Amino acid sequence: MDKRNILITGGAGYIGSHVAKQLLQATSHNITILDNLSTGSAKTLDTLRSIREFAFVELDLKEFAQVASLLNAGNFDTIIHFAASIVVPESVTNPIKYYMNNTVNTTNLISCAVESDVKRFIFSSTAAVYGEPTNLPETGIDENYLTNPINPYGMSKLMSERVLQDTANANKEFKFVIFRYFNVAGADINYTDDKLTPRIGQSFPNATHLIKIASECATAKRAKMAIFGDDFNTVDGTGVRDYIHVDDLADAHIKAIDYLQENASDIFNAGYGKGYSVKEVIETMKKVTNADFTVDIAPRRAGDPAALISNNTKIKSKMNWSPKYNDLALICQSAFEWEK
Ligand code: UD1
Repeated sequence: MDKRNILITGGAGYIGSHVAKQLLQATSHNITILDNLSTGSAKTLDTLRSIREFAFVELDLKEFAQVASLLNAGNFDTIIHFAASIVVPESVTNPIKYYMNNTVNTTNLISCAVESDVKRFIFSSTAAVYGEPTNLPETGIDENYLTNPINPYGMSKLMSERVLQDTANANKEFKFVIFRYFNVAGADINYTDDKLTPRIGQSFPNATHLIKIASECATAKRAKMAIFGDDFNTVDGTGVRDYIHVDDLADAHIKAIDYLQENASDIFNAGYGKGYSVKEVIETMKKVTNADFTVDIAPRRAGDPAALISNNTKIKSKMNWSPKYNDLALICQSAFEWEK
């Protein structure tokens, strides 16, 4: 396999580190990780270093001059861009942070990429670009579904998508893959080891994500949790989401690098095409961990749609992607092992 220079922004973070791990393990590409270590962890970088060497640059993407020099000097073939702010409620109270960190810094990164002749750009977007789907299709939301974000987080990502599309239209040499992630969860654990030793996982402090919070309860780090709303028009009244294991999502990014050698720019949903309710997730967590904890019913959380389920036909057929961990119990178990 040919050897390329690949830059991963946010490579010390949750999803970025899983992609870095797979690239270090399964390819011979030269990897550079850029991270400001605001939420990413130095310990994760040490774990990655135990696989093989890579370059690490501690840098915030808002340092435009330094980003430009890095890209000028790096001779990068592909950029995989994760570095971003991701907490939806925070984006509502502090929208400028989201438009700066996500849209402005991404626009600068794209501009530097074009200036430095980087040919390929893989971008982490989100199902939040679809907002609150009315009439969720039976077959799930496909990539042509109306985009209509209902929070600044989703809008900051959609705006970056547009910048990428317009830039690629104007520069025929520049191509992108945009992944719209549904609900990413789980951790990388060693399934061949009886003890299920976890290697990397989600270390974000003050987590807001359902599976992370449920695993904190199962390990007794947190005394109890709440279900935000049980009066939605769903199977049991609680919110329904499409949970995807982080290692399957990472695999899609690895595939995208080669995909872009042969194919045109495109947008792909990344999900399993199957929804689980909040109640089902909590029940599954309790079952696989043999733990019990208190669950209260609380009011709906602002900006939460009732149900979000992907139609993943496109990524499966065009990118030849097939998930390995399509099982809620496995996702919950890996999140729990990591949390321990
Ligand atoms: C949101 C975004 C998603 C984004 C992710 C990043 C939307 C529609 N989705 O996912 O695109 O990538 O954040 O941060 O904006 N819940 C509880 N109790 C809890 C925690 C969550 O009941 O303690 C419920 C929520 O109300 C929701 C479901 O669990 O129904 C999933 O919530 P969460 O894990 O926070 O993810 P999203 O909000 O779906």
